[in-house]
Amino acid sequence: MNIKKVGVVGCGLMGHGIVQVAAQGGCEVIALETEQAFLDKGLGRIQKSVAKLAEKQVEKGKLDEAQAKAFVEGTLGRIKGSTNKADLADCDLVIEAIVENLDVKKALFAELGKLCMADTIFASNTSSFPIGEMADASGRPARFVGLHFFNPVQLMRLVEVVRTDKTDENVFAAARAFGESCGKTPVSCKDTPGFVVNRLLVPYMTQALLMLERGDATKEDIDTAMQLGCGYPMGPLTLTDYVGLDTTLFILQGWKERYPNEPAFEVPKILERLVSEGKLGRKTGEGFYKWDGDKKS
Ligand code: 3HC
Repeated sequence: MNIKKVGVVGCGLMGHGIVQVAAQGGCEVIALETEQAFLDKGLGRIQKSVAKLAEKQVEKGKLDEAQAKAFVEGTLGRIKGSTNKADLADCDLVIEAIVENLDVKKALFAELGKLCMADTIFASNTSSFPIGEMADASGRPARFVGLHFFNPVQLMRLVEVVRTDKTDENVFAAARAFGESCGKTPVSCKDTPGFVVNRLLVPYMTQALLMLERGDATKEDIDTAMQLGCGYPMGPLTLTDYVGLDTTLFILQGWKERYPNEPAFEVPKILERLVSEGKLGRKTGEGFYKWDGDKKS
């Protein structure tokens, strides 16, 4: 099973990065969005990111100018934008990276199940929802995996490859190989809440928010403590801004509903409040901190 043509549904924060790394790895990629304006935004981000990566490679002496130009043109040349789901029909793999809402994801996979060729493998980039439920909704549970990338996809080196009891071994192997072709190190995980990373990371972020809510320390001191005390690249509140407060809240609410007796899945009030105020983190320019693009202002 050789994955050559990939469809990515959603060209937002995660989706645009997945489109890019798949194209960098040599696949033809269809980037699908609901509206042309969203597509243009995602493709614009990819252009900037590819150019930045090429520039860094030249600075490091790993590529010369001609090789950098070929890298940029080759990557962008393999990407085609679309707002028509029918363009995904002959993809070898379709990865979903849309809003973190299980019903919306299940409806999408039910539609794709009817539209795509029988061999197409489906994958969800969900942070926290059960892969098995989406697999059943797609009508092809043996050809379904989780492919969970990390933000920013272009720089983070991991991909979690999640299988259910029904996932075909060859499909799982093809998904791992695809992750490697994107330049990532795959780890395997069963279909459990949050898989490996988010099962550990989200409760850690939650504890930082509860600490802030109690007034135990300032946000700056909590972040500095984890950066300098543990060597983390970002403190937990900066990271929550970076991931998105809405995404973090969706994850926690979904878990709380499904596992009401799990103490690690607590929803901090401060998170609900900031989301209700539209302060979603870096993407809206304010969360716990104020942001100017990628940098805290
Ligand atoms: N494409 C290309 N280049 C990029 C880029 C992108 N998307 N994003 C950043 N860069 C570049 C920057 O422009 C910068 O270039 P410069 O050195 O020329 O200015 C360079 O990469 C380094 O970036 P920063 O200056 O921002 O510095 P850092 O050294 O802090 O690196 C980071 C940034 C890799 C994001 C690092 O801070 C980090 O690893 N943070 C933690 C991220 C993390 O934990 N992610 C996981 C979140 S959880 C998740 O995604 C799961 C989900 O389900 C919730």
